[in-house]
Amino acid sequence: MADQWQEAYDFAVQVARAAGAVIRKAGECEIKVQTKSCTVDLVTQTDERVEKIIIGSLKEQFGEGTHCFIGEESVAKGEPCILTDKPTWIIDPVDGTTNFVHGFPFVAVSIAFAVNKELEFGVIYSCLEDKMYKARKGRGAFCDDEPIQVSDVKDIHKSIIISEHGTDRDKQKVKKIFSTMQKILCIPVHGLRGSGTAATNMCLVASGATEAFFEIGIHCWDIAAGAVIVKEAGGVLLDVDGGPFDLMSRRMISANNMVIAERIIKEIEIFDSVRDDAP
Ligand code: IPD
Repeated sequence: MADQWQEAYDFAVQVARAAGAVIRKAGECEIKVQTKSCTVDLVTQTDERVEKIIIGSLKEQFGEGTHCFIGEESVAKGEPCILTDKPTWIIDPVDGTTNFVHGFPFVAVSIAFAVNKELEFGVIYSCLEDKMYKARKGRGAFCDDEPIQVSDVKDIHKSIIISEHGTDRDKQKVKKIFSTMQKILCIPVHGLRGSGTAATNMCLVASGATEAFFEIGIHCWDIAAGAVIVKEAGGVLLDVDGGPFDLMSRRMISANNMVIAERIIKEIEIFDSVRDDAP
């Protein structure tokens, strides 16, 4: 069935836009902040509210029971984070919660859809910029309905690379993150960046503004939609050790091409993180 998931794709775009409007409005009021795994892992009522709105709308549209859901805030509350063959929505209601709390202007709604463990489409609404990124397997990637393409830079010396620090403040891990960044900066590359949202970072790779984004410690909901968008824009996704991309592994590099990806991988100091689907 060629167009089996078109309705779901179109609906995801609508839902992401509506969720973004809720986030924008919430950002105008006082934001009550709580913490999750540690003091810098922030969550707000908006994260929880927006996830409920998204999952509620999807259940209403597609029926409870037939589709599964992996949502950042539901998992934080103890829901399982297991990808099965069933149609599954993978949701980050507010990617860039720290940005949202501080008014740093990059916050995204990220919605992906997988069937038989394969990502079918991804939608990322960068709601403060009002930019809608989307991609469906085999059909190209778009920003506000205009096709997007990764950059054609192959010379690492002419690249901009994105990475993030995440929320783990374990000294050894932080040391490895900064050591990796130092080595990459001194290759040298044109610059290092980070928007504070993995989803937006992947859209920046997909639209050619930057050559690569990598991170260890991210979760499947941060990167699932971005993975489809980067791939459909002509980019590549790999594990940070050069192996195949694994959505549940908590680590990945997305890049405009293999030349850039493999050059960056040489510099990455890998550290352990527990898989999203660990028992
Ligand atoms: C975070 C952002 C950030 C990344 C963290 C993520 P959240 O997601 O994507 O860029 O560095 O690893 O956890 O918590 O704001 O949804």
